[in-house]
Amino acid sequence: MRTLNFQIVRFEEIDSTNTEAMRQARNGAFEGLVIIASRQTAGKGRAGRTWNSNDGGLYLSLILRPDVDFRQIPLLTLMAANAVSDALKESFGLEPDIKWPNDILVSEKKICGILCETCDSEFGKAVIVGIGVNVSEDALDEELCEIATSIERETGKPADIEEFAKRLLHSIATHYARFTFDATKTVVLADWQARSSYCNGKDISVDTGREVIEGVTRGLHPSGALFVMQTTGKLALITAGDVKHLRPRKNSSDEIAETNRDADSVEL
Ligand code: BTN
Repeated sequence: MRTLNFQIVRFEEIDSTNTEAMRQARNGAFEGLVIIASRQTAGKGRAGRTWNSNDGGLYLSLILRPDVDFRQIPLLTLMAANAVSDALKESFGLEPDIKWPNDILVSEKKICGILCETCDSEFGKAVIVGIGVNVSEDALDEELCEIATSIERETGKPADIEEFAKRLLHSIATHYARFTFDATKTVVLADWQARSSYCNGKDISVDTGREVIEGVTRGLHPSGALFVMQTTGKLALITAGDVKHLRPRKNSSDEIAETNRDADSVEL
């Protein structure tokens, strides 16, 4: 079992806490180094999108150096989602849902996004777990208000970002200890399934970048990939993609599309 000893480095403004964590990891930074910024000028989202990073959000990246088979590394994104979900529930009494693989929703709107990336250097492989939480309404640009929400909106009260960061790191330490202790990694899958309505029986469409698949979710593969029983009757295994719950929506675009990708890092 691995215990995380956090060391926090804070910035008022930075390009991206993930990018900074990656710079530090390449310089040999140890597991447990946390970068937190009040705002980001080049916040990164999944699939090369940008992440809106005004004041009022929590922007946090953590360096991990897990001693696991590389095939188990993608499960860290599910581990992080479980940790955020618990921290939101314990701190604010919210009832979060996890949209596969790791979008945290409250009231069916996105409250948190997670971007895990790996990098290799002479100091070995590091995993950067980047977490962006909409704490106050100021974190959200107007065009996102329909599809995203904030802790402030959901609780009707302002929330203390620093206090929440502490609770979140505590939750990550707990879930990471579970992750490293469990050789088979079945616990992280079970934890995720217990926290996500998307795991089984959800009508969804998935844009994999190559095709759009529609069907009903049928649980997780041990790798963390999602089984979908397609409307065609064929079972698909989704390893990456943007999931949408199939229901009438006012606005189906999830985030602002933009290319912003590091060439020598890999998104999980
Ligand atoms: C997503 O697209 O849902 C993932 C968003 C991840 C955003 C966080 S904010 C902190 C960290 N730094 C970044 O540049 N991105 C992640």
